[in-house]
Amino acid sequence: MSYALTQWRAETPGCATRLHLNNAGASLMPAVVHDAITAHLRRESLEGGYEAADSAEALIARAYADLASLVGAAPRNIAVVASATQGFALALSSVDFAPGDVLLTSSDDYVSNQLMYLSLAARRGVRVVRCPDAPEGGVDVAAWDALLRRERPKLAALTWIPTNSGLIQPAAAVGARCRAAEVPLLLDACQAVGQVEVDVRALQCDYLSTTARKFLRGPRGIGFLVVSDAALARGDAPLLVDMRGARWTDADAYALVDDARRFEDWEFPYALVLGMGAAARYASDIGLAVIETRAHALAQQARDHFSRLPGVRGLDRGVQLSAIATFTVQGRVARDLVLRLREQRINTSAQSRGDAVIDLDRKGAETLLRVSPHYFNTDEEIEQAALALGRLLA
Ligand SMILES: Cc1ncc(COP(=O)(O)O)c(C=O)c1O
Repeated sequence: MSYALTQWRAETPGCATRLHLNNAGASLMPAVVHDAITAHLRRESLEGGYEAADSAEALIARAYADLASLVGAAPRNIAVVASATQGFALALSSVDFAPGDVLLTSSDDYVSNQLMYLSLAARRGVRVVRCPDAPEGGVDVAAWDALLRRERPKLAALTWIPTNSGLIQPAAAVGARCRAAEVPLLLDACQAVGQVEVDVRALQCDYLSTTARKFLRGPRGIGFLVVSDAALARGDAPLLVDMRGARWTDADAYALVDDARRFEDWEFPYALVLGMGAAARYASDIGLAVIETRAHALAQQARDHFSRLPGVRGLDRGVQLSAIATFTVQGRVARDLVLRLREQRINTSAQSRGDAVIDLDRKGAETLLRVSPHYFNTDEEIEQAALALGRLLA
């Protein structure tokens, strides 16, 4: 084992007792993240919650700076939110859709995002247009471009790395087309942040939503939304703002704050903010290029090993594949396999049709087993997990 790998594993106490291949669900927190959270909870218990937030002001500012530098933004562009879904919903709510307005998206967008599009269609008369896929999988960028020009969407929305397959969508190419057509882009980067290099300037998106708990290795219950300077300058704001996002200036008047905090709530889990900041710093210190290369190689190894097992079919398609490997197992319900593997302290996850109706139907799969390694996993762990699944299927 390399020196770096030994160190990453030593810094991740969960590695000692679990074989964790569910980083697309929630990763194992490194000790520095856990410590940042508990240190602030202790501060709150000793000083009082409001007083502790004041004492930790510099640490909180540093957390914003670390999140910003992780994604190539400035602290003024960062809004801390409860989840990727909440960030995505806040960004959607900042668009004043009128009946007949078009929202351009993909067939592989995340389930909750698809539900929000359908809700906008039902409640606001928005027309949801899904771009066709290229033959090798992922949106066809030329078709996306043509739809931008033909449909003049009010908003384009794309899930960069879907939850239900190994696909990586061509986010930067889509961003460039959206910018050229002057159509705002909302990018769901929930599975991307902490897994691949993210630079909002190169992506040319107006909004980017993400969570802490997945490949970033932060805590559950928190995420962040990146709001571009262009969106802030346009005066974009969520439909409903609170006293953090705006000032009540007169009986019938309010003024938005200048920065992305107009997307935040006043009440805040500061311990989790500090944990998420520590996770951003930890990932940046390791380097996203190193993380991406290792995680993607381990997922490819999982594809190779698992697909050789009898009755197992790999489901991943796309020009570029992520750290998520997915399989369907003939005659087996994936959730049952997940529970049987968990009995052996091997963490994986399962999805069923309702998690990705379009993708699972076209792949002819009822349920799927998802294996999502990260850079701290080892080659031996992938082999061990494949052996364990092989024994279950024998
Ligand atoms: C691609 C993608 N987007 C959004 C989400 C939702 O994230 P959250 O549960 O933090 O709202 C997930 C969660 O699995 C996801 O995989």
